[in-house]
Amino acid sequence: MTLSIRPHASDFAADAMGIDLAQPLDDATYHAWKLAFEKHRVLVLHGQHFNDDRHVAFSKRFGPLEAFPEEEMCARGHNTILRVSNVHRDTGEFLTMKDAAYASFVLGTSEWHIDSSYRRMPSRCSFLLAREVPASGGDTMFANMAMAYAALPDAKKTELEGVYAIHEFGAMAQKKGAPAKTPEVRTKNPPVRHPLVQRLPNGERALFLGSHIDTLDGMGGEQAQSLIAEMTEWATRPEFTYRHKWNVGDMVMWDNLATMHRGMPYERAGDRRVLQRTTVAGDWAIAA
Ligand SMILES: [Fe+2]
Repeated sequence: MTLSIRPHASDFAADAMGIDLAQPLDDATYHAWKLAFEKHRVLVLHGQHFNDDRHVAFSKRFGPLEAFPEEEMCARGHNTILRVSNVHRDTGEFLTMKDAAYASFVLGTSEWHIDSSYRRMPSRCSFLLAREVPASGGDTMFANMAMAYAALPDAKKTELEGVYAIHEFGAMAQKKGAPAKTPEVRTKNPPVRHPLVQRLPNGERALFLGSHIDTLDGMGGEQAQSLIAEMTEWATRPEFTYRHKWNVGDMVMWDNLATMHRGMPYERAGDRRVLQRTTVAGDWAIAA
């Protein structure tokens, strides 16, 4: 295989061509892929048709995979492949917001977020494959938070020094009126404190935001929410974002520390969307 990379405007996100993920990856291709990923942070591969075993196999080259707790939300027989879909795995029926797990997922993924930012070590990266796509809508948007930070005025950078946010599992759903998580779930997922400006593994600095943030440490509620909103609006300006319109066979890999993402609306009640995701577990504690 020979990998070739076509960067999008501004070098954020790139199309990666020449890889067939249905085949085993040789070391040279893997290393070239990894380098391109570290540079562009979102990689798009088109025309991919691989099975679940291959999805797990190539994902694991990048690190140990996260297992997902809800069996019904996973591909059959694979607790490391999450189904991102509006149709039930077994019955094929459309899911509705009366389904608590589905409702929480929809609420959770439609706002700008970083996967599992409520952990000390959030997920490292994800691989999302499109098996079925709706006729319109259902795009995924990505925002590059290293670019967003670099472009901030110096005065704002200084203002953000030493500011910490409290991330909490369930904060997002609760803001949208969903029932609070049970005491058991809350005990298992205590709030964590992360700097608003992180240092990435490569040494670059980047904003660290997303809707799992409950508030800012030591700041009044109103002032905190206004600073969070201001930074989120900044980080998601068009020049820092990439919007992916899915075609069947697209596989998108994203850096979960340096980017935020969100799913865009589509006709959930009547247009099938079946995506499958593997996620490499975090190995990096967020620090200023
Ligand atoms: Fe997500």
